[in-house]
Amino acid sequence: MTIAQEQGTIPQVVPVEIGRPRGGPKEKRTLRTDRWWISPAVTATVLTSFVAYATFAAFQGKDYYVGAKMHRDLISPFYSPCIAESCQRVAGSHPLGIWASFWNFSPALLILIVPLGFRLTCYYYRKAYYRSFWQSPPACGVADGHRSYTGETRFPLILHNVHRYFLYLALLFNVVLTMDAVLAFNFPGQGIGFSVGTLVLCVNAALLWIYSVSCHACRHICGGQINEFSKHKIRYRLWKMITPLNARHMQLAWVSLVFVALSDLYVRLVASGIIHDYKIF
Ligand code: FES
Repeated sequence: MTIAQEQGTIPQVVPVEIGRPRGGPKEKRTLRTDRWWISPAVTATVLTSFVAYATFAAFQGKDYYVGAKMHRDLISPFYSPCIAESCQRVAGSHPLGIWASFWNFSPALLILIVPLGFRLTCYYYRKAYYRSFWQSPPACGVADGHRSYTGETRFPLILHNVHRYFLYLALLFNVVLTMDAVLAFNFPGQGIGFSVGTLVLCVNAALLWIYSVSCHACRHICGGQINEFSKHKIRYRLWKMITPLNARHMQLAWVSLVFVALSDLYVRLVASGIIHDYKIF
């Protein structure tokens, strides 16, 4: 026990034991007097709004591509890479071709498995939704919403261990979304140009790259399990580049999440003729 703990100036650490109740004040839910509930409430609101919009967009199965008729080459990130059978009905389906020929539903329902799995298993989002939805615990110094704590030792939470593999897939998707951004410079029948849609897809791809490389698993792959950095110069450089981004992983998670939904919305509005994609040059 430290001197500060003996003097009672800082609280003693309550060890967390698997299968037992987690620490926290016994007599009431919390001794905190600040508005600790604001953060989990905001998180729950934004995540619920995103899930509601993504579900709506994924089930649409249309208006996800702006093609040659409008002199554009813009595809929604929710529908890329468009590899399902149903993509063939849309002129300009992704040049990677049709791989999932068995899939005849909305392509997004197949494609979104990867970004969804990546975000669901993300270390930051785990903290966010454990606090805001699962109440485990809702905030620091607030009692757990459950009688016993099992950590991530059981199904389904043990599946979070696959995060690293979702990272690999997400990086592949980022390559495809970058290709989409490059293709957005193409204006069929008009040559090369730059529009608001081009800007949207470029910013979206950049944000997804930054979010992905700021991932904790990515940082570990680059700099983990090394005893002497001096013997691994390239990995050390990568680790040094990634570490400042990793410190902002939470902010990058939110910005990239909101922007990917806005990118889908923008393409959707242009494809359905509600707005015009303004050509800057
Ligand atoms: S920890 Fe968040 S994406 Fe890997």
